[in-house]
Amino acid sequence: MENGKRAQWGSNFGFIMAAAGSAVGLGNLWKFPYLAGKNGGGVFVLVYLLIVLFIGFTIMLGEMAIGRSTQLSSYNAYQRISKKWAFVGGIGVIAGFVILSFYSVVGGWVLNYLYQTVIGGIPADTAAYFGSFISDPVAPIFWNMLFMAATALIVFKGIGGGIEKACKFMMPALFVILIIISIRAITLPGAAAGIAFYLTPDISKLTAGTVVAALGQVFFSLSLGMGCIITYGSYLGKEETLEKNSIIVPVLDTVVALLAGFAILPAVFAFGFEPGAGPGLMFITLPQVFDKMPFGWVFGILFFILVLFAALTSSISLLEVTVAYMQDHHKWGRTKAVVILSSFMFLIGIPASLSMGIWSGIMIFGYNIFDFLVFISDILLPLGGILMCIFIGYVWGIDKAVAEITNGGKIPFKLKAFWTIMIKYVAPIAVIIVFLNALGILKF
Ligand code: PFF
Repeated sequence: MENGKRAQWGSNFGFIMAAAGSAVGLGNLWKFPYLAGKNGGGVFVLVYLLIVLFIGFTIMLGEMAIGRSTQLSSYNAYQRISKKWAFVGGIGVIAGFVILSFYSVVGGWVLNYLYQTVIGGIPADTAAYFGSFISDPVAPIFWNMLFMAATALIVFKGIGGGIEKACKFMMPALFVILIIISIRAITLPGAAAGIAFYLTPDISKLTAGTVVAALGQVFFSLSLGMGCIITYGSYLGKEETLEKNSIIVPVLDTVVALLAGFAILPAVFAFGFEPGAGPGLMFITLPQVFDKMPFGWVFGILFFILVLFAALTSSISLLEVTVAYMQDHHKWGRTKAVVILSSFMFLIGIPASLSMGIWSGIMIFGYNIFDFLVFISDILLPLGGILMCIFIGYVWGIDKAVAEITNGGKIPFKLKAFWTIMIKYVAPIAVIIVFLNALGILKF
């Protein structure tokens, strides 16, 4: 709320930069390339693209419609339409809280890596450095605090003057840097093997595990299933074309994920590293790659600026989900909500950070604290997505959703038939099957 009236994006472009900013994040740059590396390269990419096309677009449009229709953030939006379904919005608020708690730990690592690169480079034994940095009881918490403070500062400034402004600067910059780095990587001698690995789908590598990993990644990467797009959609005006927006945002997100693969995998191959190196790919392998590259110092700095921008434009959307809930539901002011929520999330991030070091022995259901938070979000997002599809298809009703998308028939809706079938039948059933499989309840 700004001056008692609900805030709105300054322009549709501003909304797209903010929504794409939320979507494009550590998920694209850090997780996508290593998941692709681990799950058979091209096969993973292919499955991922299909899921974005059929399920990502469908849920994105559904969330935008709920948000814009009610002009409320997720909990209150669901509640406005059906009191019984408010809990789905509640799941989203909890997910936002949990995700930002661990996300900003990694955001802090990125800040430290940027700083270290600027002042002279990561020590040659990058694996040892990474291990000792993340297990240190003090340094990562300090960097996490800085990252959370930067996130809080932007959200504190509100929708137009904070989030939109920041994303309109950071997102175009991110694209430019990513393109420069991708060109550098694919023109390295020996890069062809990486490109082939990345682009050639070997169907024999297609397993249930690949599909589960790709589906979870689509939800996380597109910021779906937790009311983030509902919240951002609630600041949209009625004249904007939701259908177009919900194509553009996933396209931008996917282009960045694919480019991240081009920026990273060919370089990894060119210098003889392992593509499936896991989460360490960005923090262990890449610094070595930069070290071996001509002008690697410059590329290293550019790369970590890029990752920082991606992480920040996502972390502000996570914080905004919880802040908007406090504003809409509990009538808190923005400043109070930002200060209290970001402080709490930072505090929860402390044990998550310590679980990489002195608290690594503390296990919850077989996970350390950090991985447990990731596990909770891996469950909450698809769950939120399934419930949203059922909600639109059978509670709110397709007709009302279509009336919102078309602004009462004024805006054409070309994919109406496709979207209806997807949201009523295909998306919920597909997500339920994969979800049960991921939980080990249904094995195929
Ligand atoms: N989409 C972000 C990423 O790929 O890093 C993470 C994220 C942001 C998830 C916002 C969920 C969300 F609501």
